[in-house]
Amino acid sequence: MDLGIKDKSVLIVGASRGIGREIALSFAREGCRNLILIARTEKLLLELVDECKFIGNADLVESRSHDLMNEDANIVAASLLESYGHFDIVIQNIGTSLTPRDPLAKFFDWEYALKLNAGIAIDMNNILIPPMIKGGWGRVIHTSSISAKMLRGNPLYASSKAFLNSYVITTGRAIASTGVVMSAVEPGAVAFPGSYWDVAQVNDLEKCEDFLRHHQSIGRFGSCKEIADVVLFLASNLSSFMPGAIVPVDGANM
Ligand SMILES: NC(=O)c1ccc[n+]([C@@H]2O[C@H](COP(=O)([O-])OP(=O)(O)OC[C@H]3O[C@@H](n4cnc5c(N)ncnc54)[C@H](OP(=O)(O)O)[C@@H]3O)[C@@H](O)[C@H]2O)c1
Repeated sequence: MDLGIKDKSVLIVGASRGIGREIALSFAREGCRNLILIARTEKLLLELVDECKFIGNADLVESRSHDLMNEDANIVAASLLESYGHFDIVIQNIGTSLTPRDPLAKFFDWEYALKLNAGIAIDMNNILIPPMIKGGWGRVIHTSSISAKMLRGNPLYASSKAFLNSYVITTGRAIASTGVVMSAVEPGAVAFPGSYWDVAQVNDLEKCEDFLRHHQSIGRFGSCKEIADVVLFLASNLSSFMPGAIVPVDGANM
């Protein structure tokens, strides 16, 4: 199937590990013009760049190390445009449930979770989307979470991902007629080496089994590849009628 992305310039924000890493490898396999990878950990990024180059289907693969909680995401986005020209596809993958989780915490903590799970993406999008609109084609895909829909688990995380979903739906609608499709995937629980669920399977197997029994109908954790495949679809021409879509990839979470 031709996804129509071989000539596209792709930016992945939050690419160094887990789901973002697998998304990067998927673009490298599929082929694209530029593949630019952002995260904090330079060592992991450089290893990933080598791996993507080894696969060999992307014309240019480069990484930039940024801490987007401590740097101004607007300025980082503007400097990326200056270096690489406009991006056709942007993946906004940064986020975590490992934030403060006290629902009676000060707004300072809520603001932290909100910035990490939505604010960085919003700041970068404000800079990266206008050139896409000018070109008449673009894809902006966010990694949300099934927590946004179920509103379970860490309240600060679930609320910030719910805010992200609202942003994707409302902004996706507002720019729908421009040729830029904004969307999100909603992963259920995903395990990969070193991840929360991977460690939990070693330290607290009973808790994992209980979680799967009660919350993930499929009875197993998802893989990064199962999320990345859907992201690749949303990044392609095939998602042209999907602005504002929030796509669950969650093993029938309940
Ligand atoms: N895993 C799951 O079960 C699951 C389920 C539902 C939704 N999700 C969502 O899926 C996305 C990816 O999750 P994951 O499990 O793959 O998480 P992860 O392993 O923690 O990956 C997050 C990525 O973001 C980067 N990052 C984090 N903070 C950053 C910062 N301040 N500046 C720049 N980069 C930063 C990390 O790289 P560095 O550490 O190198 O900076 C990493 O590449 C998240 O949005 C998460 O909420 C995950």
